[in-house]
Amino acid sequence: MTSEAMPAGTTALITGATAGIGAEFARQLAEQGHSVVLVARDAARLKATAEQLERRYGVRAEVLAADLADDAGVAAVVGRLTDPARPVEILVNNAGIGLLRSFEENDIAEEAGHLKLHVETAMKLTHAALRGMLSRHSGRIINVASVAAFVPRGSYSAAKSWLVSFCRWANLAYAKQGVNVTAVCPGFTHTEFHDRMGMDKTVTPRWMWLQAERVVREGLADNARGKAVSIPTKRYKVLTAAARILPDRLVAGPPRRAK
Ligand SMILES: NC(=O)c1ccc[n+]([C@@H]2O[C@H](COP(=O)([O-])OP(=O)(O)OC[C@H]3O[C@@H](n4cnc5c(N)ncnc54)[C@H](OP(=O)(O)O)[C@@H]3O)[C@@H](O)[C@H]2O)c1
Repeated sequence: MTSEAMPAGTTALITGATAGIGAEFARQLAEQGHSVVLVARDAARLKATAEQLERRYGVRAEVLAADLADDAGVAAVVGRLTDPARPVEILVNNAGIGLLRSFEENDIAEEAGHLKLHVETAMKLTHAALRGMLSRHSGRIINVASVAAFVPRGSYSAAKSWLVSFCRWANLAYAKQGVNVTAVCPGFTHTEFHDRMGMDKTVTPRWMWLQAERVVREGLADNARGKAVSIPTKRYKVLTAAARILPDRLVAGPPRRAK
């Protein structure tokens, strides 16, 4: 197992890099001196984010506009990750969305797109990045999951559980070959996520809200240490430990409410 951060000057590809947790991963990795490849759908916002990182940290910031719920978008990012001339040493699969309504109310196409973005895309990008990393005996992969993975809370929890299980196995298999794989599991974090899904944030008590800066700082440190699962903050470590032993009906939490 490798137990230190990647040396400065390597390249990190971050999905969902223009807002929230992904933007903070891009910022902290650029601050550490890594070149970054930023992926999201909004091309203008990508360009502005890249310019800001280049100005602030003096690193190279490349942009790749792609819809990761779409096969062509995923293929474009796979192409970038498998280009032998431009190796990517750090991959952060972060892009994600939430669905406000419950499973039976959603259109099945929405559910399928949600599952694809969180699970299939993350699996394909991990696969694409892994071969090059293994051949170099060095790499870092972070899949942004959620503490929702540890509670029964709709298809979002089910998708994030897949990521946690996948990372637990992948880290066992690949860390000894130099590639650390970590599921970063944030609790409620101040980002655009809940506004985008139209959720009323006031239902969630204030003490449960985290800042993206801390989620990312702890996530990167746990990945560098070779941990398969990172649960940022003590309060969420305690909550997830309790969720493992308490009955499902107690830990599922209240239904989501629209704004
Ligand atoms: N915020 C929380 O409380 C929380 C808690 C636990 C886990 N998470 C997880 O953390 C990750 C990041 O969430 P966040 O809270 O930072 O969300 P956010 O602030 O809404 O940012 C989402 C980012 O993903 C991009 N994105 C969304 N859909 C995409 C698609 N189809 N293809 C490519 N890019 C896409 C967005 O840019 P474009 O719209 O331009 O594409 C944006 O850059 C997600 O996986 C989420 O499930 C969040």
